[in-house]
Amino acid sequence: MPEKKLIAGNWKMNGSLEANDALVRALVAGMRDARCDVAVCVPAPYLAQVQMLRHGAKLDLGAQDVSQHAQGAYTGEVSAAMLREFGVRFCIVGHSERRQYHGETDGLVAEKAKTALAHGITPIVCVGETLAEREAGKTEEVVKRQLAAVIHVNGHCISEIVVAYEPVWAIGTGKTASPEQAQQVHALLRKQLAAATAQAERVHILYGGSMNAANAASLLAQPDIDGGLIGGASLKAPDFLQIIAAAS
Ligand code: G3P
Repeated sequence: MPEKKLIAGNWKMNGSLEANDALVRALVAGMRDARCDVAVCVPAPYLAQVQMLRHGAKLDLGAQDVSQHAQGAYTGEVSAAMLREFGVRFCIVGHSERRQYHGETDGLVAEKAKTALAHGITPIVCVGETLAEREAGKTEEVVKRQLAAVIHVNGHCISEIVVAYEPVWAIGTGKTASPEQAQQVHALLRKQLAAATAQAERVHILYGGSMNAANAASLLAQPDIDGGLIGGASLKAPDFLQIIAAAS
């Protein structure tokens, strides 16, 4: 179990300069007693704004994607070096929405994680099964395949990544995995990491998928759930602060 839990918000494609200002100021004011690590992963256009608003607070800055390329003719992409210029510490890679809408493969996700690590950014590597895969009994096969690709490319520094188990059927649906369901998969991921590194206990394995103020404590009480990757609830300061309190 890592020393402190990690609660990361994923704003997805949400926010405005006005809403971000109110949200981040409320988070900074409300998380002074937090005894966990906290990050917000924001849309790239808002990195400079949030970097300024969080200045001096224990709130880390994250991104939601990164190019696997260093620089060049890749229209619309954002490089790891650019993210580092804004003080980005974390970057989500392989979110199910990018795998679904942008065809991101296990191999591409592994390369993105490698690029992030090479620039001192901690990748939050997302794995998770669809409802059809779960109902077909393929959950273990799917998440182990997804993580194996990242280990294959980054095995020598795999202890430096964060893993997020996000059952696709729980994302944005209000249908959260039960603590027992989540713990079962987290334990599988921990065992897979342990075969690749002696530091597996240090790796944060986050749960994502309709974690909210009401269910956070029961999920975070599980031995292999080291934090959360929070979508909708991270856009509401009172809810996100309650989740942070549950992790502290
Ligand atoms: O990356 C976190 C996200 O996929 C979870 O979304 O709204 O179910 O908390 P949500």
